[in-house]
Amino acid sequence: MGSVTQEAQLLRDVKSVAVIGAGISGVASAAHLLRYGLDVTVLEQSSIAGGVWHYDPRTANEPTYPNEHPPIPYESDPSKALGGKSTPEETSFEEVSLVHAPPGPCYVGLRNNVPTSLMRSTLLDWPEGTEDFVSQNHLEKYVQRLAEHTGAQDKTLYDTSVESVYKVPGSPQWTVDARTLIRIGLGDESEFKFVDRTWQFDTVVVASGHYHEPRVPNIPGLLDLKQRFPDRVMHSKRYRTPEIFRDKTVFILGAGVSSLDIARESEGTARHIYQSSRGGKFDLPPSLLPSSAQRVAGIQAFVALEEETPGTLSSPEESPIPFEVVLDDGTRLRDVDRVVLGTGYISSYPFLGPRLQAPGVPLAEADGRVVITADGAVTHNLHKDVFYLADPTLAFVGVPYHVSTFSLFDFQAEVVARVFAGRATLPTEAAMRREYDQRRGGENIRGEGSSGSKEFHSLWGRETEYIDELLGWVNRDAALLGCEAMKGVDDRWRGKRAEFAKKMKEIRRWPPVAAEEDHADGGGYESLTVKPAEFTRTSVGKRIGASFYDFGIV
Ligand SMILES: Cc1cc2nc3c(=O)[nH]c(=O)nc-3n(C[C@H](O)[C@H](O)[C@H](O)COP(=O)(O)OP(=O)(O)OC[C@H]3O[C@@H](n4cnc5c(N)ncnc54)[C@H](O)[C@@H]3O)c2cc1C
Ligand SMILES: NC(=O)c1ccc[n+]([C@@H]2O[C@H](COP(=O)([O-])OP(=O)(O)OC[C@H]3O[C@@H](n4cnc5c(N)ncnc54)[C@H](OP(=O)(O)O)[C@@H]3O)[C@@H](O)[C@H]2O)c1
Repeated sequence: MGSVTQEAQLLRDVKSVAVIGAGISGVASAAHLLRYGLDVTVLEQSSIAGGVWHYDPRTANEPTYPNEHPPIPYESDPSKALGGKSTPEETSFEEVSLVHAPPGPCYVGLRNNVPTSLMRSTLLDWPEGTEDFVSQNHLEKYVQRLAEHTGAQDKTLYDTSVESVYKVPGSPQWTVDARTLIRIGLGDESEFKFVDRTWQFDTVVVASGHYHEPRVPNIPGLLDLKQRFPDRVMHSKRYRTPEIFRDKTVFILGAGVSSLDIARESEGTARHIYQSSRGGKFDLPPSLLPSSAQRVAGIQAFVALEEETPGTLSSPEESPIPFEVVLDDGTRLRDVDRVVLGTGYISSYPFLGPRLQAPGVPLAEADGRVVITADGAVTHNLHKDVFYLADPTLAFVGVPYHVSTFSLFDFQAEVVARVFAGRATLPTEAAMRREYDQRRGGENIRGEGSSGSKEFHSLWGRETEYIDELLGWVNRDAALLGCEAMKGVDDRWRGKRAEFAKKMKEIRRWPPVAAEEDHADGGGYESLTVKPAEFTRTSVGKRIGASFYDFGIV
């Protein structure tokens, strides 16, 4: 058995770990940490495991219009989010629970767009015969079964929102303040109380996801439109079924997967759909849109139409909104009934406090400690997108984009478990920082558009490279420290992934060829496309995921 060099830091004496969130990242983290003998507590704000994949018929409260930056951390007063109302006399359980644990983005028709065979933990197989593309409740159940199967479920405190995570100067441990919402009684009569608790943990895993805070762009006229016709404008996070668009003309802003999926679900229900793209790098091609939908240019403004009698601007339900939608190419649309903002999400970890979440700091001015800046797209200062450079006892699972999420996040979770359990070392802070600064310079963090900065965490075409790089490091240490090697994803997964990537490479139109040639493994696939020529109306399924099968390509 060898020993680690001075160039490495070995975390010693880690016993307790707080895991924030019980989506796939949190459950997988807890599962691996438990396997490696650590004392785990999972804190989950909602009442159930599953994260994004849990369907809740309620919708989250309206975001602020506009909402372009991460929220200012609440510091010490979480009741600020409830407008100061926090007792049963002032508000209801229903209102409080919407703020305490806001419903997620899952809609009735949501399905996975990465095959289930590539979306799994190494600790649990899918039931025999599971199809590659399934509805959201299968994904949710998978996460819940993983929690039960591995013991993570027994370590989870539900209805418990993490409010702040910090180190008191001089203390080696993290202080975690959390607030549990307890319902008293049932039905309309039910009351509630909060229980505030504080714990100390040696380490913390942030697995709280990044699809909570809707991104609402600051487009001229949008706020005016929303204020006058609040029910006609929504962010995609509040979408549940296409029924609200029956016989309506819908304008969807953004051309990511949410936008495309809503357009496709609304085929046959909506009268007409406009999908507006400003040409973002990750936008899906218009060829994937259904026949009732039309790709249009980026948006310039929503302009209220002239009022016939001042102060009487109104619109009966059956009429289009009395606003013109002005596009970048000069087109002016007047027939729009509903507006959907498919403009994505802001990454946010408000519980990390104002030093680490600094919405007032521009992206380019990020220092060596901050994690979230004004853009809300980059999670700064992480080694390999996981370990906080300034203090790697704080780790993040689930940050990368354009990956087969369940598998990759499960992989990251095991790496974290090995580092926290002292079975793998990290480079010194200086060495990690050198590597990070090089990457940051090389990949040129930008703030243009949501994709500009999102690119920093994209593993498009580099997912297996990332896995192999981390495996190499962890297993070098395993040999040195005399412990069992980490297997990571198995050959079955690698085979399926290579096969899928090859097919994706054949059918994918994006990213551009030059970029594609750089990547031997064919790319990641959180956003998938097919060439227009391969898109046939007769074979297309309603779902993005299903479409690969229905095309007869995969
Ligand atoms: C609409 C939609 C569809 C998607 N479809 C796919 C797909 O088809 N394929 C794919 O691979 N990926 C897909 N994704 C990506 C998806 O995010 C991942 O599949 C995966 O669910 C991420 O898991 P996570 O655990 O990292 O985050 P989440 O699932 O978001 O879980 C985070 C958990 O943390 C909890 N939490 C947050 N803040 C706190 C707090 N302060 N205190 C306590 N708990 C907290 C939340 O309640 C939640 O349960 C989709 C995402 C969206 C939004
Ligand atoms: N399984 C499924 O079927 C499914 C369904 C829905 C979502 N998802 C997943 O959910 C995640 C989020 O997807 P998403 O589509 O909601 O978000 P997204 O991928 O971030 O896409 C957001 C879109 O909005 C545009 N946009 C953002 N800000 C804008 C602005 N100010 N003005 C104009 N356009 C703007 C973006 O363009 P720019 O790049 O130019 O900013 C982009 O086209 C993804 O991981 C996706 O794969 C999966």
